[in-house]
Amino acid sequence: MSHNLRDVKIYFFMALDFEIIKKEALEAIEKAGDLAYLEETFKKYLGKKGKIAEAFESFGDLALEEKKELGIKINQIKKELENIYFQKERELKDILIKQKVGQGSADILLPGIKPEIGHLHPITKVKREAEEIFKSMGFEIAQGPEVETEWYNFDALNIPDWHPARDMWDTFWLRQSELKMKNEKIKTEGKLLLRTHTSPVQIRYMEKHQPPIKIIAPGRVFRYEATDASHEMQFYQIEGLMVAENISVANFKAIIQAFFQKFFDDKNIKIRLRPSYFPFTEPSFEIDVSKPDGTWMELAGAGMVHPSVLKAGKIDANKYTGFAFGMGLDRLAMIKYKINDIRLFYQNDLRFLNQF
Ligand code: DAH
Repeated sequence: MSHNLRDVKIYFFMALDFEIIKKEALEAIEKAGDLAYLEETFKKYLGKKGKIAEAFESFGDLALEEKKELGIKINQIKKELENIYFQKERELKDILIKQKVGQGSADILLPGIKPEIGHLHPITKVKREAEEIFKSMGFEIAQGPEVETEWYNFDALNIPDWHPARDMWDTFWLRQSELKMKNEKIKTEGKLLLRTHTSPVQIRYMEKHQPPIKIIAPGRVFRYEATDASHEMQFYQIEGLMVAENISVANFKAIIQAFFQKFFDDKNIKIRLRPSYFPFTEPSFEIDVSKPDGTWMELAGAGMVHPSVLKAGKIDANKYTGFAFGMGLDRLAMIKYKINDIRLFYQNDLRFLNQF
């Protein structure tokens, strides 16, 4: 502490001042009989323009040492007073609640204020609904990576690199020259890409499981495409695969019809298979689903798993047969919620999302 006599004197007087203010404030808080009075007291002593703040300002020309000392002291006093104030406030509030309940004027059965919480994205909702329906029919859920190898996304699905059908999937290829050198495994499996469909999960699952197989694989896929109301660069698909002895198109038709009837909650829905082409199925078809007005909408691709695909999945193609299908989850969501632009799903516009 500095030994300037004037400052030492001022310091002691001020310290005394604060002790007096503290005592006064303590008495006032103690005396407070209701919250309004308590709040007044708070303002008078601890508020921005209260006595403590006022006194704090008045020691502007004190030497630095004394100023510091005094500052510490004042902060202690403030803390002490605040603690006592909050304690008193709690006591008074408790009394108030007890009084109200006692008088029957507080309705303790009234529902509380609902906290605002988020909700699921429409695509997630549709995905989970579809999962539940297929699970109820005995399907398990399988998954695969979004960054895939050329082998799983194409070759193993009977689409070698010279095959014109590769043009059906505009692909995002990944630059990987360094990766490739470092990682021997990737080198043997070929180039990397963002999966263009969920079909590679079929192969990954078959490699590790023998029939009977009954899975769905929902997930995100990517296409190198210009976007418009019905095309996005990323979207969601749900893949299905069932392999066992004597599986036929009839099994597929029954299952997919049951799915759509449940999904659209309409027992009258009919299914129509139209011949089509996919390299990984033979025969292949498009699935049309009936609308109430008698017209049809195309909702999925499907077929009997091609023997080469079973072989790539290490499954005996002489013993087992199976069906596979793939459909767009975005498409299902658009129809279910009457949305006319797929891009809305990926813009995170709350005016859109809050409607679900
Ligand atoms: N993978 C196809 C696509 O993305 C959809 C598809 C068609 C999947 C037929 C299948 C299938 O499993 O059998 O266009």
